[in-house]
Amino acid sequence: MADGGWESQFGSHFGLNKEYVGSSSQAAGAQSLAPSIGGDSAVSTGNHSRSSFGEGPFGLSQQTTGSVPDQDLEPDSDAASDADSGYSEAALSTASLRSSIFDYEEEYGRSYHAFRAGKYMLPNDEGEQERMDIHYHSLRLVLGNRHFFAPLEYPMSVIDIGTGTGIWAMDVADDYPNSQVIGIDLSPIQPTAVPPNLEFQVMDADEPWDFGQRFDLVHTRLMNGFSIKSWPFFYEQAYEALQPGGWVENQEFDLTFACDDGTLPPDAACSRWVDLWNIGIEKFGLVGRCLPEKMADQMRNAGFINVQIVPRKMAIGTWPRDPDLRQSGLFALVGMLEGLSGLSQRVFTKALGWSVEEMELLLMDVRRELKNRRIHTYFPIYVVYGQKPPLTR
Ligand SMILES: C[S@@+](CC[C@H](N)C(=O)[O-])C[C@H]1O[C@@H](n2cnc3c(N)ncnc32)[C@H](O)[C@@H]1O
Repeated sequence: MADGGWESQFGSHFGLNKEYVGSSSQAAGAQSLAPSIGGDSAVSTGNHSRSSFGEGPFGLSQQTTGSVPDQDLEPDSDAASDADSGYSEAALSTASLRSSIFDYEEEYGRSYHAFRAGKYMLPNDEGEQERMDIHYHSLRLVLGNRHFFAPLEYPMSVIDIGTGTGIWAMDVADDYPNSQVIGIDLSPIQPTAVPPNLEFQVMDADEPWDFGQRFDLVHTRLMNGFSIKSWPFFYEQAYEALQPGGWVENQEFDLTFACDDGTLPPDAACSRWVDLWNIGIEKFGLVGRCLPEKMADQMRNAGFINVQIVPRKMAIGTWPRDPDLRQSGLFALVGMLEGLSGLSQRVFTKALGWSVEEMELLLMDVRRELKNRRIHTYFPIYVVYGQKPPLTR
């Protein structure tokens, strides 16, 4: 690790961020909105101009002036009418582009993504961003500080789908400075001061991907169960987006309160909450549970080979003996205490028709149980990864 352990990671999140030479100090509200090579389903929100990627391993063609010979660039017959330019003023305005990604939806004091509004159930505000970063540190300890398990020595091009605050992508960009890293998300909540080899884009991963390049690693973290609508579609897109021999890797938790020693009472509020949550999330067309064998099958069906499942456990609370897992458990607990309302709000109010007050009463009991050190619950963690077949001679 380039930056030495969880203390510095945690410290860096809580106000001790590294400075990156050449990076912008723009506030999120003042980000540039250059259109990305992903087409109109993706919007670049980072501080790096596209041209900076032309020289890298992405293999983007260099900009030239004049005409380009031998390229089939036929105009679409519908592209323009005689009457006008074919674009409405609104479509060309940066203000409308900006509002389509920055005008967050507000519900009961929480904010939600604006781009493809309404499709993702968790907020994107400061509280939720803090939860994401705290759980990042918890998972990092559970995974022994590994960024990925796929046997890649030095991935040159990496994409993080559903990057959230971008913390994984930033650490990977830091630790692999010669690689190019892209993080995409529905919400433009990532910092603008980032390593020079990292770019963030606003994009919906449920829509066809078109990055104009291929990757060595397609990564997700904590996306299963409540983010991606169709995992078969996801694996198809990942397969297409990878170089031959490249890897897809999902690092996921199963949102359930597992317990191996009977310390979780059968009538626990935790279990009631998770059962209700699963019923609610299914009403949004999502599956809720993370089933690693199913993910592995879906990977294989998309053409991936060498599929592996690495199971781990993320304790909730400081009950494990192992110091790293105890520290991870503290982060997991704090993340849950912080994140429980955000995780529940849309699901309980919109899908189940509860009032916020009714929901908060249940959450009080859940929080009390989670803080009880005699109850030994954990989230099952699964890293599932597979390889796109290499080219054979
Ligand atoms: C639970 S968070 C995980 C974030 C990050 N990977 C982490 O581990 O902290 C899920 C993220 O996926 C994003 N997301 C959900 N559905 C998405 C979609 N269809 N396309 C792109 N991003 C999506 C959300 O905006 C959110 O930031």
